[in-house]
Amino acid sequence: MKLIVGNWKMYPPTISEAKSIFGVIKKKTKGVTRARVVVCPPAFYLSTLVALRGTSKIFFGGQNCFKEDEGARTGENSPRALATLGGSYVILGHSERRALGETDKEISEKSVTAVRNKLTVILCVGEHARDEHGTHFNEVSTQLRDSLSGFPKSMAKHLVIAYEPIWAIGANALHPATPSDFREMSILIRRYLTEYFGKTAAFTIPILYGGSVDERNAEGFLQEGDAGGLLIGRTSLDGEKFSAIVKIANDIKTT
Ligand code: PGA
Repeated sequence: MKLIVGNWKMYPPTISEAKSIFGVIKKKTKGVTRARVVVCPPAFYLSTLVALRGTSKIFFGGQNCFKEDEGARTGENSPRALATLGGSYVILGHSERRALGETDKEISEKSVTAVRNKLTVILCVGEHARDEHGTHFNEVSTQLRDSLSGFPKSMAKHLVIAYEPIWAIGANALHPATPSDFREMSILIRRYLTEYFGKTAAFTIPILYGGSVDERNAEGFLQEGDAGGLLIGRTSLDGEKFSAIVKIANDIKTT
């Protein structure tokens, strides 16, 4: 089953817009049974949207959480509160957070606390740039090794990896990666996961692609790139387009 995750970042600016985007997704993805939809709204909107979920099978996630369950940590988000409010996933190590100074060590600590709170971690990795020497492979390997260093080996089913090359993310992206760029990197990621978790567990971990995904290129990543799903920023704020991607994922035959 493909996993389609919408990362809303700090958008939209009002709760009424958030409700309306969510309403479109809920309506348009009705009947989807072979793809899982995860919406990661700004934390302030979470409980309102969870209350609107109704009988839909839409899951929710946070965009970050702190490395402790609770505490005197002004401005931080508790993973326990996220889980209690109806969150099932949390995005950790997004490049926009790494750019603010978040380290692999912190990401590793956050992951441990998140899984202890029964959240599934969507761990983001991705290189700044590519060159002909293949330094991007080393960059991603280091991120994987260091940000997974504390992850409990028995909890592979609570892990998702999102490969998001930084040069392909956001409005200033050069261009999206290609399905074959994704495939190549996912082999390296799968190899690392196999070393860490063992073969059987490693093959249960979905590897998503993220970075300038839209309704035109999504199928290529899912089909040709064999991605386990997609992590979508800008396009996830367009309920119609995001739902169209969910339907593409729903129609893909997986073995
Ligand atoms: P984008 O963002 O789809 O807007 O490129 C992806 C992400 O940052 O997760």
